[in-house]
Amino acid sequence: MANEAKRLVDLLHLPLEESGTQAARLVAFSAPANYRLPSGFTGEASIVQPFRPSFLALEASGLSVTAKPQGYGFDLALVALGRHRGQNEQILAEAASRLRDGATLIAAGFKMDGAVSLRKRLATQLAELEHASRHHGTVFWLTMDPVVRTQLRSLDVERDDRPEGFVTAPGMFSHDRIDPASRLLIEALPEKLKGAVADLGAGWGYLAVSLAQRFGETLGRVDLYEADFNALQAARANMSSVSVPAEFFWHDVRREPIRQRYDVVVMNPPFHESRAADPEIGGDFIRAAHAALKPGGRLFLVANRGLPYEAVLSKSFAAHGEIVRDGHYKVLWARR
Ligand SMILES: C[S@@+](CC[C@H](N)C(=O)[O-])C[C@H]1O[C@@H](n2cnc3c(N)ncnc32)[C@H](O)[C@@H]1O
Repeated sequence: MANEAKRLVDLLHLPLEESGTQAARLVAFSAPANYRLPSGFTGEASIVQPFRPSFLALEASGLSVTAKPQGYGFDLALVALGRHRGQNEQILAEAASRLRDGATLIAAGFKMDGAVSLRKRLATQLAELEHASRHHGTVFWLTMDPVVRTQLRSLDVERDDRPEGFVTAPGMFSHDRIDPASRLLIEALPEKLKGAVADLGAGWGYLAVSLAQRFGETLGRVDLYEADFNALQAARANMSSVSVPAEFFWHDVRREPIRQRYDVVVMNPPFHESRAADPEIGGDFIRAAHAALKPGGRLFLVANRGLPYEAVLSKSFAAHGEIVRDGHYKVLWARR
């Protein structure tokens, strides 16, 4: 992953090797956790990173980082493209809005993530697009003017692929449908639940909203912990349709302690932060859930059938078991 991130940064900086950047006002979108400014850069840099683990790493390296873009009239925008087409398009549209006329926009990504096809699609509308290829990836760049800006901004279209009236956006977990594992978890919950509840890795809020709808006022509160700032904002909007009190924490569940204590924790934990699946992440979520529960409090979680979470539950919880499984997923419970 670190190697992949380094290759992406090399690609992004490639067009700067000749032109230089020294005194520019730069904004970098989705900069990887180990991002460093171009060599010789003496200007002002604003880094945008909504994923909290990467945000914290960038901040610790001394960079000025925000979860959402701030400021306009930048001289240079760098866009690290990811795997989600709709999200890439939204970020390019946002970058175009933030640049002054005459500024440079540089975007880079890997072929396997669709960066080459994105560049080819853009090249049919933007004749001035330049590009280079390296490291199984592509970098493309152009100079901003009102026509280019209008074309790039038109990439951010109103979408009709949201599930059942929820607020979501491309790049968020299961943005275009309710995740079947999360649905199975809700269906498997006991008939009655009460007290304070935490949803760890809450995404755009499906579990929290469903709990509030199903158990209503017997829940004292539902708190949502989520690393993706944009998903948490969507969850905030989705939770406005229910009347249970809620707090929203932009939080890295693996690395930051949870300060409140809960009667119930629910979660559909992530199993990768980069490309490769990593069951350690779910293990960290289970340990965080244990720490966040009051004595006697209960955890309900859903996971792919093959993930070995029972062993982690055995180590810390007083009791645990399985409620249900289908062809793909299992719902587990544990008592602290
Ligand atoms: C499998 S999704 C579940 C989302 C939602 N609870 C649902 O059921 O639809 C896991 C969520 O965990 C979030 N996540 C990943 N790493 C995280 C971390 N270190 N701390 C907090 N949340 C994290 C992801 O952004 C994602 O929204």
